[in-house]
Amino acid sequence: MTVALVTGAGGGIGRAVVATLAARGHTVVATDVAAPDLPDSTGVALDVTDTPGVERVVGEVESAHGPIDVLVCTAGVIRPAGILDTGDDDWATMLDVNTTGVLRMLRAVGRRMAERRRGSIVVVASNAGSVPRTGIVGYATSKAATIHLTRCAGLELAEFGVRANVVSPGSTDTTMLRALPVPGVVDEAVERAVAGSLPHHRVGIPLRRVADPVDIAEAVAYLASDAARHVTMQDLYVDGGASLQT
Ligand SMILES: NC(=O)c1ccc[n+]([C@@H]2O[C@H](COP(=O)([O-])OP(=O)(O)OC[C@H]3O[C@@H](n4cnc5c(N)ncnc54)[C@H](O)[C@@H]3O)[C@@H](O)[C@H]2O)c1
Repeated sequence: MTVALVTGAGGGIGRAVVATLAARGHTVVATDVAAPDLPDSTGVALDVTDTPGVERVVGEVESAHGPIDVLVCTAGVIRPAGILDTGDDDWATMLDVNTTGVLRMLRAVGRRMAERRRGSIVVVASNAGSVPRTGIVGYATSKAATIHLTRCAGLELAEFGVRANVVSPGSTDTTMLRALPVPGVVDEAVERAVAGSLPHHRVGIPLRRVADPVDIAEAVAYLASDAARHVTMQDLYVDGGASLQT
C-alpha cells in the first residue's frame, strides 16, 4: 500500500484528507504539532517549523512504514490583520508555518521522492493567495509565496517523475473559518462568506455554500492519485467560484 503523510492532520481539512486517502487504500501517517488520534491512520507529532524535527520524523516514518509516495501539506495558521496593523511577530509566524513549513516538507520528502523517481505532492494553500483580500495581508502573502514555491518545486522535480500541485480552498467550514473575528451568531462567518461583502470587495460564493472539508479532500485525493499522472504545477481552486478564477 502506498504511504501518504499528511501535515496539519488534526485540523478540519487535514482530518478529511486523512479519511479520504485511507478510504482509497493508502497507509496514512497523520501528523500535527501533537500526534493526532484519527481512525485508519498512524498519528505522529511533527511541527513543520522545526527543521531538524522534520528531517528526523520523515526518516523515522519511512523506516517504520516504507517510502512516502504521497505528501499532503495542510498545516496552516492565520493571524487576521490588515496592512497597517500587521506586527512582525504574526507576519513571521504565518510565513514560518504556511510557507517555510512547506519548504521544509518539500526538502525532506521531495529529496527522497526524487531519489526514488516517484511521488506526488499536494499543498493546500488558499484562494487568498491569488485574490487580494482585506484584513488578512500576512496570511494571503504567505499563501501566495507557498503557491509559487510549490509550482517551482513541481518544475524542478518533474524530471524525476515527481508531481507537485496546489489545492486552493475558499471558505471551508473548519475552526479556522469560524475563529475569524466576526461578531454575533456563530454561523455569521459562514453566512458572510456566502453572501460576500461589497465594502470588503468580496463577491461571495456563486455556488451559495461554503466548502465542507471533504470537498477539499476529494480534490487533494485526485491530484495525489495516478488519475492525475500528467498534471503538475497546477493550482486547483475549490472555492465554489468565489475567486472567479479563469
Ligand atoms: N478553513 C478555510 O476556510 C480555509 C480556506 C483556505 C485555505 N485553508 C487552508 O487549509 C489548511 C487547513 O486549514 P483548516 O481550515 O483545516 O484549519 P485548522 O485550523 O482546522 O487546521 C490547521 C492545522 O494545522 C496545524 N498546525 C498549525 N501549526 C502547525 C505546525 N507548526 N506544525 C504542524 N501543524 C501545524 C494545527 O494544529 C491544525 O490542526 C490551512 O493551510 C489553511 O490555511 C483553509
